[in-house]
Amino acid sequence: MTEELAAIQTEALTAIAAAHDDRTLDEARVTFLGKKGRLTVASSCMKDLPKEEKPAMGQALNETRQTITAALENKTEELQSQADAKLLAGIDLTMPGYCLPAGGLHPLTLIRDRAIQILRRLGFSLAEGPEIETEFHCFDALNTPADHPARNEKDTFYFDSGKLLRTHTSSVQIRTMEKAKQMPIRIIAPGSAYRRDEIDATHLSVFNQLEGLYVDKDVRLSDLKGTLEYFFQSLFGEKTEIRFRPHFFPFTEPSFEIDIKLHVKGHEPKWIEVAGCGMVDPAVFSSMSLRRGDETLLPEKVTGFAFGMGLDRLAMIEWGIRDIRRLIENDTRFLSQFA
Ligand code: DAH
Repeated sequence: MTEELAAIQTEALTAIAAAHDDRTLDEARVTFLGKKGRLTVASSCMKDLPKEEKPAMGQALNETRQTITAALENKTEELQSQADAKLLAGIDLTMPGYCLPAGGLHPLTLIRDRAIQILRRLGFSLAEGPEIETEFHCFDALNTPADHPARNEKDTFYFDSGKLLRTHTSSVQIRTMEKAKQMPIRIIAPGSAYRRDEIDATHLSVFNQLEGLYVDKDVRLSDLKGTLEYFFQSLFGEKTEIRFRPHFFPFTEPSFEIDIKLHVKGHEPKWIEVAGCGMVDPAVFSSMSLRRGDETLLPEKVTGFAFGMGLDRLAMIEWGIRDIRRLIENDTRFLSQFA
């Protein structure tokens, strides 16, 4: 039997060495190791052997199987590298490859990320809320009563359910105050906002805002001013001039619009509006306290400031983009300038 095994091994190794492709190699594998292969048949004779010969024979069988298996593996690798070499033979490895243009970030993403980075340095963290909002979060809680012109059906997109596409990110102020566990609250919320505006060079029906809210024991108007001055000067350069122009927003008192002085070659400098802001109206805190059923946000206990800026507008200023529609057209001739 040992001689037979030695013969099987020699034949197997010869067949494997002679195999010249995957098919002939597989044939050799089946002939020797397959279910009805030579070695398998030989092992089935084990049961007829006297007991004392079994261990030695078992070991011999195993060794033969291992030797053949190893030879098969080596040959498979050898055939594979021969095939690879053949494939590469026709290829000039020194030829220059195709150049895939690298992608880049959209200008809105760039400006948003810069804004977030600056405000993070001041301790603001990110918050978010849904774009499909309730009237409560978008208006009522922001001290904007049902007869306020902002709630006009023509201004906003309403769903049959009574929900609406948020007209500003200020709703995230409410979402945050509803569930805030501890003071201070210091959040920013970038995101889309929607209006039924006529589309033109400065208006889209979907645009991007960045909301900010800071609530604590003793927040003052000077904190708001310092924060926003620092923000705009960090974003557009130290020499940037900004002004706070008194305005009205239902959810802040006093309220301001912020203008930036824009210098365009060959033109008189002009002020352009970039954000709204103000001190959170005590009415907003009262409605939040009622909603929460606790005293955390009682207007006697806390004050706060809020701001909301148009990210599209900021991108247009940063890069001198004259038409807001460029930002949504996905024209790579325009976008590749930012990559
Ligand atoms: N939500 C306002 C808008 O969309 C912008 C705004 C004004 C946000 C004053 C504020 C704020 O947080 O305090 O026009």
